[in-house]
Amino acid sequence: MSENELLTDVIRQSRETALLESTLALLEWDERTGMPKRAGSYRAEQVTLISGMIHRRKTDPKLGDRLNELTASELAQGDSPQAATITRLHKDFRRNVRLPVELVEATSKATVLGQQAWEAARADNDWNTFEPHLAEIYSLRRQEAELLCDEGALYDALLDQYEEGARSEQLTTVLGQLRDELTRLVQEISQSTSGPDGNSWQRSVPLAQQRDVSQWIAAQIGYDYERGRLDETTHPFCTTLGPHDCRILTRYQESYFPSGFYGTLHEAGHGLYEQGLPTDWYGLPPGRYASLGVHESQSRLWENFVGRSQAFWQWCLPHITTKLDGAWTGLQVEDLFRDTNLVKPSLIRVEADEVTYNLHIMIRFELEQLLITGELAVADAPDAWNERYESYLGVRPPDHRTGILQDVHWSAGLVGYFPTYTLGNVYAAQLMQAAAAQLGDLEQQLSQGQFRPLLDWLRTNIHSRGFCLHPGSLIEQVCNQPLDAQPLVTYLRDKLAPIYDL
Ligand code: CO
Repeated sequence: MSENELLTDVIRQSRETALLESTLALLEWDERTGMPKRAGSYRAEQVTLISGMIHRRKTDPKLGDRLNELTASELAQGDSPQAATITRLHKDFRRNVRLPVELVEATSKATVLGQQAWEAARADNDWNTFEPHLAEIYSLRRQEAELLCDEGALYDALLDQYEEGARSEQLTTVLGQLRDELTRLVQEISQSTSGPDGNSWQRSVPLAQQRDVSQWIAAQIGYDYERGRLDETTHPFCTTLGPHDCRILTRYQESYFPSGFYGTLHEAGHGLYEQGLPTDWYGLPPGRYASLGVHESQSRLWENFVGRSQAFWQWCLPHITTKLDGAWTGLQVEDLFRDTNLVKPSLIRVEADEVTYNLHIMIRFELEQLLITGELAVADAPDAWNERYESYLGVRPPDHRTGILQDVHWSAGLVGYFPTYTLGNVYAAQLMQAAAAQLGDLEQQLSQGQFRPLLDWLRTNIHSRGFCLHPGSLIEQVCNQPLDAQPLVTYLRDKLAPIYDL
């Protein structure tokens, strides 16, 4: 076979694997959007079988031979999408062949059952029934990390799967600086006497109206309903089921409008990224997102940097006032802007403000590094959790439900995933700084509801480029600056100083 024929064959095989992967994603979408409770164990069997099939395809020795040959060829040189495809698939292959199919299937099953156990444990505030599941999941992930790790920290072998090229040592430095800066900021804010009280949000809004507003705002920022849909779930997420099928999910609370509204903006931000990826390359690296950190930068950018700005509310308030049929009459832009930027240490990550959110992540990042090496036993994790909440945020969880049982991630086997949330915030700040420098008066555009220039800028610089570069290199190229927490600190200080009179 010629090199071009080899590549065509590898691409065909990878596209078929993507068909199975998107089928798996569809099963997960269904599981999280109202699957009957007792369907769980059969669903675990389905997911286990398909995961095994995917793993066998990805570790097919013939695929390995072809990728070896292609890697040595001219086609793998330079930075073309073809070269990126060969390089990334070869890397994936070398990683996958190190994992026995029994381990992959065992992890898949343990995490489906783990999530079901977590769901029940959280509802019952019952750590003890969940603990053996978590111990099993950490043990499986540790085995995986040991098989994958050649050098450096065990944890990095897992982190690399979500954020290629990231290392815990570098993150500890950058996120550590951020933690110190933000802890200081939280202290200054706690001493301020002029902060907002959050009263603007103390108005209940009927769910039907909230759904209407959410559908509308996602469309306003550019989310395409011909290639996606918005549904409801308990834990909002975004998933892609095909080149023209990206679904977003949010949740609504009648008494707390921001939950549904910002949940939608966040997930629509993820959706815009997915809808902006090159469809010709669907199922292959150039048609895939660069990393979870870059993904989260897109959601945070729309949710926070746009959606919690004064300019945004100048444009948005009159529209929402009309849509809500008088429920918001009398509210001022200034009040909403202040209340939407209320900073207050709390127990629950997903409800945290933009500042303290990153401290929640630091706690998880530190704990999962200790849990994966075994320096911290799973049985001791709740105490370690509570102690860190007390020391970083000054609050202590009264129970496990509002403590260690609050997040689904570990029960789903996602270890090394949490730091990508803070990376997303850091990248978003760097991207907004670069976009503002190139787009002229961005604030003016936002205050008139002109979101297209910003979206086009993101399409050109991030979305259309798929996964051809390391996320770190992509951000560095686009922003002319390596990973840096300073733009995020500056952005938060600039926004909060007038609100809190700092
Ligand atoms: Co997100």
